[in-house]
Amino acid sequence: MKMNEGRIEPVIIDSFEELADVCRSAGITGQRVMLAGDTNTIPLMGERAAAQLGKVFREVHMFAFEAGEENKTLSSVESLLSYLLDCGFDRHDTVAALGGGVTGDMAGFAAAVYLRGIRVIQIPTTLVAQIDSGIGGKTGVDFEGCKNMVGAFHMPALVCSCPEALLTLSDDQFRAGMGEVVKTALLGDGKLYEWLPVHAEQILNRDKEVLYEMIRRSAAVKCSVVRRDPTEQGERALLNLGHTIGHAVEKACQFRMLHGDCVGLGLLAAAQMSYLRGMIDSDTCIRIHDVCRLFGLPRFVTGITAEEILKNTKSDKKMIAGHIRFILIESPGKAVYADDVTDEELLAGIRHILDKDA
Ligand SMILES: NC(=O)c1ccc[n+]([C@@H]2O[C@H](COP(=O)([O-])OP(=O)(O)OC[C@H]3O[C@@H](n4cnc5c(N)ncnc54)[C@H](O)[C@@H]3O)[C@@H](O)[C@H]2O)c1
Repeated sequence: MKMNEGRIEPVIIDSFEELADVCRSAGITGQRVMLAGDTNTIPLMGERAAAQLGKVFREVHMFAFEAGEENKTLSSVESLLSYLLDCGFDRHDTVAALGGGVTGDMAGFAAAVYLRGIRVIQIPTTLVAQIDSGIGGKTGVDFEGCKNMVGAFHMPALVCSCPEALLTLSDDQFRAGMGEVVKTALLGDGKLYEWLPVHAEQILNRDKEVLYEMIRRSAAVKCSVVRRDPTEQGERALLNLGHTIGHAVEKACQFRMLHGDCVGLGLLAAAQMSYLRGMIDSDTCIRIHDVCRLFGLPRFVTGITAEEILKNTKSDKKMIAGHIRFILIESPGKAVYADDVTDEELLAGIRHILDKDA
């Protein structure tokens, strides 16, 4: 399968005021652009982004989704589609997603299906989006309680990340983003995994230069995987490290926990399962816990049972012929997939993240 042409690597800028120049150098100009954010990002940075886009597009329209994962639905996407139609958008026009993963996934999906596909640019504003969701062209919505169940591959024509945007992110959202950063390092860059704890203080203080470096290196891991396997025929599945159990926890607690926190729990479960298979030793497993804890990621989940989580892993879309394609850790920096994990192994991983004292 061939994916639509687009640009995989993000351009990382020091301030929003560079956005117009970046668009111009990427050949992104035109008649109309729809700046689609959410009810947090549009008030926070909509005007600054619109002023830049106004230098390269003749008309800038703005649209805000209701913020939050619970609004990542087909009906939210439908509202944007209606607005694109009302504003007379045609095949040559562009959608610009200004926000976190929820905005990027929905605006990207709207762009993928409107007139069978119009250009999208991603301007990710959360840590999750800058290192992960804004890159690689996966778009979509949650459907009937299942995460990202309906969607399309639609590669952005440009990904433009500004670490400065992260300064207004809440501590909770920043911490959740660190779940995806640790995941990325664990699956594809052992040196980044070692670098993270050394720079923990600066990262947590959101030192702009250190954030820049962390985003650049994390994004590079994602880009190299996506470049080799754009439509997830094989290797791209490795990016789902921590996600099978992470998504199952997210669903079991009815999306009350942040995605990145659930990924963090999923990593701990996957590390335990890798340890029990003899793939990593106990020191490596403990170190993974320590790194997650350093960034404030949760150690346990409460109020749900192992059986509920196990059941939810079965409705995960990463099933192949009835089997879960589970991602395990061979060593920090190298993940592998296994199609033969048993329910007993899954339960051992899940029990490891349940608070026995709760
Ligand atoms: N497409 C992919 O490849 C991919 C990969 C990973 C995750 N995802 C998806 O991404 C979503 C999670 O993304 P997220 O964590 O960015 O969530 P999000 O988009 O909900 O953003 C989190 C919150 O931060 C707010 N926000 C965004 N930018 C801000 C800023 N700069 N300052 C202050 N507040 C800001 C948002 O309004 C929202 O309330 C999930 O739905 C997940 O499934 C997709």
